[in-house]
Amino acid sequence: MDDKAYIAIVDFGSQTTMLIARKIRELGVMAKVLPSSITAADLKKHPPLALIFSGGPASVYEDNAPRIDPDVINMGLPILGICYGMQLLALHLGGKVSQTSHKEFGQRSISLDTMSPLFKGLDETTSVWMSHGDQISLDNKAIKTIAKSPSCPHVAIEWAEQSLYGVQFHPEVFHTSCGAQVLDNFIFTIAMATKNFRLDDFLSTTINQITEKVQDKHVIMALSGGVDSSVAAVLIHRAINDRLHCVFVDHGLNRQGEAEEVSKLFRDFFKIDLVVIDAKEQFFAALKGISDPELKRKSIGRTFIEVFEHEAKRWPDARFLGQGTLYPDVIESLSPNSGIKSHHNVGGLPERMALQLIEPLRDLFKDEVRQIGLMLGLPTSMVMRQPFPGPGLSVRIAGEVTKERVALVRHADAIVRDEIDKAHTNGSLPKALWQWFAILLPIRSVGVMGDARCYGQTIVVRCVESQDAMTADWAKIPHDLLRIISSRITNEVAQISRVLYDITQKPPGTIEWE
Ligand code: XMP
Repeated sequence: MDDKAYIAIVDFGSQTTMLIARKIRELGVMAKVLPSSITAADLKKHPPLALIFSGGPASVYEDNAPRIDPDVINMGLPILGICYGMQLLALHLGGKVSQTSHKEFGQRSISLDTMSPLFKGLDETTSVWMSHGDQISLDNKAIKTIAKSPSCPHVAIEWAEQSLYGVQFHPEVFHTSCGAQVLDNFIFTIAMATKNFRLDDFLSTTINQITEKVQDKHVIMALSGGVDSSVAAVLIHRAINDRLHCVFVDHGLNRQGEAEEVSKLFRDFFKIDLVVIDAKEQFFAALKGISDPELKRKSIGRTFIEVFEHEAKRWPDARFLGQGTLYPDVIESLSPNSGIKSHHNVGGLPERMALQLIEPLRDLFKDEVRQIGLMLGLPTSMVMRQPFPGPGLSVRIAGEVTKERVALVRHADAIVRDEIDKAHTNGSLPKALWQWFAILLPIRSVGVMGDARCYGQTIVVRCVESQDAMTADWAKIPHDLLRIISSRITNEVAQISRVLYDITQKPPGTIEWE
């Protein structure tokens, strides 16, 4: 997809940058997210059709606020600045940005100049979603104000001859009802893009690309049982059939029933060559005595590589390693904050084994991958399953990972999954959650069980809503459902006498505990 025409979203740190890219793709045009450090020279190598500057948490007048190479603005490409992006554009055009005493957060009514191509087809008064404490002032006669609110004189600006536009509100969010039309106007009327992004085209093009790249060689792949590696494997299999070889490493840290489900689906249903390796003892030995989260992750990563490398010797003709890398993984690995946790499950392998990478999903978002999975015939239950981290249940056990402690958290997790899955199906939980699971704490507390004092262990239930795992909110699930989950865990899981519910957003908390 690299040579495709695209809209570039320049990221100034907004929580909704990804959403802008998703909205553009929904309109049928390829969108890529680029860091704000991008230069005009970089862009000239494969110029986009237009640029969208995202919002961001900083104020443009702060010392360390992210800026943009002025030559990017001077490239003559259409630009739409959103919130911070508009303020940056205004600064570049000689305007001023300052703090306002009329901060606007949430829904606001604005009036629009519907003669502007940006607002073509909209009503003159509309409600938009704002989130700003700064506003611009401008005395460049070439620039027109095309929207205002009672407390903000420049809600949107236009320099038509230069195709430069700015909006103080967020067209990408659900609460701006005219937002999709504003983005549609920008990309089709102003930037004159044509539709070039359809998932069925993606499927056929990608299968052809893999066939061409792999030629008559073989691909090996570590299958985790998650959505991404499963979809990637089935996609690669479509291209090269029995020259794909998958390895499922059973590290003993999987959810209940996982190893069996994965092998049934791949071996019996898709007829994909799958080897299941029972490496539980090796992993538990490597984890013995380790409580530090990063050391745990590193130890699992190291052991995984040892096991996989050893097994891969079965296929001396393998020249490629398949991976289910997604677009957010690619962006996150480019971001300055990417070192929060050592995420990637098979990092280091390709170089060590002199393998080239095949990452057919690296341009896609999670929901797009799910659609591709359905198109490829994966069962809905597999495609819609919640994300599960590579290091498995170990990152959901605070303190040392032992077989006994894994058994406890696995059992509690199965109950959380069972109850939330039921609630999703029967409609008592109308909004689909992003993840729902259990964590075991190294804390005991006093309780009474069967009229006797007990000193049992503690489980935390974590249920989150999210769009892309970059940010997340704890789910306000019904109290009755929490009561059922808590009572089942304390009744059915031996040794657990206390259940807590995690009400931490990301940030500051991460979704997983370790
Ligand atoms: P955090 O905990 O960083 O997680 O908020 C964000 C998303 O990533 C998943 N996660 C992982 N996935 N390998 C993975 O493949 C990992 O090491 C890993 N750690 C976290 C997590 O479940 C959430 O969906």
